[in-house]
Amino acid sequence: MKNLAELTRKDFPIFNYQKEAKDNLIYLDHAATSQKPFEVINALENYYSYNNANVHRGAHQLSAKATEAFEKAREITAKFINASSSKEIIFTRNATEAINLVAHSWGDYQIKEGDEILLSLMEHHSNLVPWQQLAKRKGCVLNHIGITQSGELDMEDLQRKLSSRTKLVSIVHISNTLGCCNSIRQIVEMASKVGALVLIDACQSLAHRKIDIQSLNIDFLAGSSHKLCGPTGIGFLWARQKHLEQMPPFLGGGEMIDEVRLDSSTWADLPHKFEAGTPAIGEAIGMGSALQYLQKIGLENIYSWEKELTEYLFEKLLRINDIRILGPIPDKQLNRGALATFSIKDIHSNDIAELLDSNNICIRSGHHCCQPLHHHYSIKSTARASLSFTSTKNEIDIFVDELFSIITFLKQNS
Ligand SMILES: Cc1ncc(COP(=O)(O)O)c(C=O)c1O
Repeated sequence: MKNLAELTRKDFPIFNYQKEAKDNLIYLDHAATSQKPFEVINALENYYSYNNANVHRGAHQLSAKATEAFEKAREITAKFINASSSKEIIFTRNATEAINLVAHSWGDYQIKEGDEILLSLMEHHSNLVPWQQLAKRKGCVLNHIGITQSGELDMEDLQRKLSSRTKLVSIVHISNTLGCCNSIRQIVEMASKVGALVLIDACQSLAHRKIDIQSLNIDFLAGSSHKLCGPTGIGFLWARQKHLEQMPPFLGGGEMIDEVRLDSSTWADLPHKFEAGTPAIGEAIGMGSALQYLQKIGLENIYSWEKELTEYLFEKLLRINDIRILGPIPDKQLNRGALATFSIKDIHSNDIAELLDSNNICIRSGHHCCQPLHHHYSIKSTARASLSFTSTKNEIDIFVDELFSIITFLKQNS
């Protein structure tokens, strides 16, 4: 297996500019946001230093240069997921906004009272709340697919809950808490039998494995740049062109119009119809650079290295007494996300995270924006360590050793 950490850590300033060895950062919170390589930081700096201008509107050369770089980022994004046209890529602020766009635009136009939208218990709040708001507006019904004993999507429950009333299955690809990887092809096959569309929340999968939207045969995909080694403030919605053409604009204003009269307007062509106002130009360019960086490393290589690391992480964590790990335990066959969410009996996850932080180890604690999932397991808070291709076995060793010491310390002092 290629040790990608050895090859790539030099690309990230954050891993190279610690003042002293003791400051060495162990960042195990990649699922919350990824670290940024020089290439991305340079792309942002380059744009703001030499190419800064508004896009699509200036008659001058600088605007033409900015527009070219911005539209190139759209093409890179389309290629990254194998979209058939860059017109199908709508830049948004993040994945949350992409899902809101679908809920408002597609939802307000397509959904009627009594229609059903099928979600799951493991969804991030950003794939729950927009649908709750739609249900309030339109009187549709939300249904939630359950979870199996082993912490995976219950496909039999999905089958039971699908009906001719189901208009959309909106589902996470890799759960940011359980780490399970949902079988999208199978979900699409089942949903299509009742004529339902499928949206996938690909926040936790796009940086970790190759995604080909044509082979998945989905209808919508939401992604966030900051999970992909890119800047914050930019994400994207991919949707089939036929849906985008029928959907009304989400937000109104400049950039998204064709012609404006005092009492009415007509809309610009795709994708601009859905991009009101000045977009996050430098950030889109930065995202393009991040996607090219990931492609250079190779998504297959990333998948293999992270799989090895995840098995190693679990092997070590499972030696801890009183640990409860949510989601499926990885093995050679299991296609699983590179993270472990856990709780330790009688210890609050915030205490664990704070004590680890005092040793420069960053993990996340809380509900990870999955409160309903935590309610399902009757726990308020869990700790989560999440990996990337820059992670090392040495980092995992230090993290688990510290975790052992913290547990011993807290148990002795409780
Ligand atoms: C599975 C999942 N969905 C959605 C989101 C929301 O992403 P963003 O806040 O970038 O919109 C996240 C972020 O943590 C996530 O992990």
